[in-house]
Amino acid sequence: MNVLGIETSCDETGVAVYSTEKGLLAHDLHSQIDLHAVYGGVVPEIASRDHLRRLLPLIRKILSDAGIERPDAIAHTAGPGLVGALMVGGGMAAGLGLAWNCPVVAVHHMEGHLLAPMLEENAPDYPFLALLVSGGHTMLIAVRGIGEYNILGTTLDDAAGEAFDKVAKLLGLGYPGGPELARMAEQGDERAFDFPRPMLKRPGFDFSFSGLKTAVMLAVRKVEEQGDLDSRRADLAASFQRAAVDTLVGRALQAADSENLQRIVVAGGVGANRLLRSEIADRFSGDVYYPRLEFCTDNGAMIALAGALRLADAANADEIRAQARWSLELLSSPGTSIQETATR
Ligand code: KG4
Ligand code: ZN
Repeated sequence: MNVLGIETSCDETGVAVYSTEKGLLAHDLHSQIDLHAVYGGVVPEIASRDHLRRLLPLIRKILSDAGIERPDAIAHTAGPGLVGALMVGGGMAAGLGLAWNCPVVAVHHMEGHLLAPMLEENAPDYPFLALLVSGGHTMLIAVRGIGEYNILGTTLDDAAGEAFDKVAKLLGLGYPGGPELARMAEQGDERAFDFPRPMLKRPGFDFSFSGLKTAVMLAVRKVEEQGDLDSRRADLAASFQRAAVDTLVGRALQAADSENLQRIVVAGGVGANRLLRSEIADRFSGDVYYPRLEFCTDNGAMIALAGALRLADAANADEIRAQARWSLELLSSPGTSIQETATR
């Protein structure tokens, strides 16, 4: 079975074909970063319009790259995400499903991130702990199989990527902030500022980044008053990154220990952070798995793969699914009706 995957939940138009026999056949994406950079963040209306413009040509290219005329099933991101943007992918999937008479699978975006390491040769076995860190989510999940997700911890305020993006903005760095901040941090001293490692001493596995963000904001203000921001920017970036990574890794290790899990999967956009990757690999005694860098951030390959693993949920499209919110815990094992369990 060849599954066409379509991702349009935010600011990347991603398309891929995944074969259940041969693995990933083709993938590519069109990033809208340049369109949104001038606004310092994603503008939903612009995102939807650009998906509309890019999606069909990209689907044509990917089918041609994969050497197929039409797929056997279509998977699209149905949420969570920007509703207008999701509707472009969902509408396209439903339309093509009708035209080609093939079934459509509505994929949960975070399940796509979670399963992305399965695209690699060194794929993890179940069970594992997933540290899902993106622009909209920060979660620790005990994963015992597809659709068997137990959320152990989540963020009480900002997502990890959001914290990186906001601190980057405070430091006057470009958009998107996470990678820019990580680049700037390479030239700084991570011990220059002693920022808090929020929540590490509290029970449970939740995260909170607002205290850390406030501490950085106060430090930036002080440095600015002294006219030193240019010379201290890299130190501020490095010290923030160290505090954020210590918090993420510390919490993940506590959760793995408590659940007795020997494998950790790191996924989502912040999973592209080099310090996070090296730190968790150094400190965890079990095995650590990541998708390759380009599959950490949003992409069509993870959606095609998740669709292939959920073919039992494929149905003829009689409805276009697009929902801003959708809890990962509402998913169930393939073939046990995720369609009914979604919230709108
Ligand atoms: O998963 P993703 O592409 O989109 C969402 O589903 O949110 O994640 C995007 C987030 C952004 O906040 C971005 O700044 C962050 O991931 N990010 C990074 C790095 N690369 C991307 N954060 C820290 N270090 C990075 N190298
Ligand atoms: Zn994402």
